[in-house]
Amino acid sequence: MDKFRITGGRPLKGRVSISGAKNSALPCMAAALLTSETITLHNLPYVRDIITQRRLLEDLGGTVLTPELRTHKINASHVEVFEAPYELVKTMRASVLALGPLLARFGKAKVSLPGGCAIGMRPIDLHLAGFEKFGAEVKLEAGNVVAYAPPEGRLRGAEIHFEKVTVTGTENLMLAATLARGRSVLHNAACEPEVADLADLLNKMGARVIGAGTPTIQIQGVESLGGAQHTIIPDRIETGTFIAAAALTGGALEIKDCYPGHLSTVIEKLREIGVEIEELNPTTLEVSCRGRLSASNMTTQPYPGFPTDMQAQYMVLMTQAEGVSVIDETIFENRFMHGSELQRMGAKIFVNGRSATVSGPSALTGAPVLASDLRASASLVLAGLVASGETLIDRVYHIDRGYEKIEVKLRQLGADIERVREPVAVPALQPLPG
Ligand code: EPZ
Repeated sequence: MDKFRITGGRPLKGRVSISGAKNSALPCMAAALLTSETITLHNLPYVRDIITQRRLLEDLGGTVLTPELRTHKINASHVEVFEAPYELVKTMRASVLALGPLLARFGKAKVSLPGGCAIGMRPIDLHLAGFEKFGAEVKLEAGNVVAYAPPEGRLRGAEIHFEKVTVTGTENLMLAATLARGRSVLHNAACEPEVADLADLLNKMGARVIGAGTPTIQIQGVESLGGAQHTIIPDRIETGTFIAAAALTGGALEIKDCYPGHLSTVIEKLREIGVEIEELNPTTLEVSCRGRLSASNMTTQPYPGFPTDMQAQYMVLMTQAEGVSVIDETIFENRFMHGSELQRMGAKIFVNGRSATVSGPSALTGAPVLASDLRASASLVLAGLVASGETLIDRVYHIDRGYEKIEVKLRQLGADIERVREPVAVPALQPLPG
């Protein structure tokens, strides 16, 4: 298991380019299952979750060509398997996004029910309730969701009212509704930019989706969908992570190939606490932080609110800010695992259920710490960049799921960070009997 070794205290300087958004690339890759023609996706991030999604598509019978590292040509004309197995789903919950397209195009799907994860129970009941509204028969068998389209073989358009905003729930039902008979309306839908990016691709494939990016999405079902080319939007969470890195190290960064428009709430909040952020042009930010940060409360919310995927990074900022701040996590019930690791580095954090109180500024010192999930591991990297001495982060496979070569990008900006490969233990050969 790889680790990161970081020696902190160096201000980051220079230019960094942002990769494509993992949380848009995953549903866009799943969209290829809706058609027998080829989908070409550009600006895919080179991260482990994309490799897992590719493997899922190939296991289903799809072909994925990579003319370039960040371009995939996906063709699902020979899909013969309609099952996303436990082995894959347990490594990546987003595999559940195969359910909508398989059910809509082939009338059947079997997807392992994703169990809970470090940050919460994360049920998919709203996804399944939506498919039932589309007329599907949905059953749970041996840990798998098994779903069949109604006898006439095609899903029926319907009105869905989400009792809670769900990102992949919105995406899964939007994917399915594109081939349903009639019109569907998704109310209280997720407004995340990744949802709108998926709709953009679907409309290029011949779908009729309007209102994506707003709480009400209307989809007029069509008989079939065609091929398309699409470029994935920049990753707003990776962008936010690098803004935090610049601020925490007292550095100065030019962040390129990003899209500030998808980050306005984050940018506004970070400016409020004292980070200097200037939009040089629609895809470039200039970030620096000369003064001391000031503490400010924050509550995570669905988009356009402050994203939960930036909560851990924000907590590290608050450990270095003057004063006391309260962070309320409203999306996931168990997303403060990084708090106890940051305490090991000297941070003053008190967690009470879904609320964390941070007192700052604290002088962080390097320590061996354990990553528990993707964004928690990003926060430990940020803390390591600030801390005096050496930090050793274990289980960085979490960060490889959603950040493309983060240690390489940081090293190019002057950070003292390296990936430490643990030698694989080879069992000693036993002498042969006799
Ligand atoms: C997406 O997860 C993202 N993942 C997450 O990013 C992100 O944290 C999350 O949205 C919230 O923004 C991808 O897009 C692949 P939800 P998702 O359904 O869709 C509850 C990262 O770090 N809920 O919007 O799984 C759920 O338990 C990852 O990149 C139900 O109760 O999240 C949660 O409390 C982590 N029933 C809330 O809704 C359902 O059927 C929001 O979850 C569905 C969700």
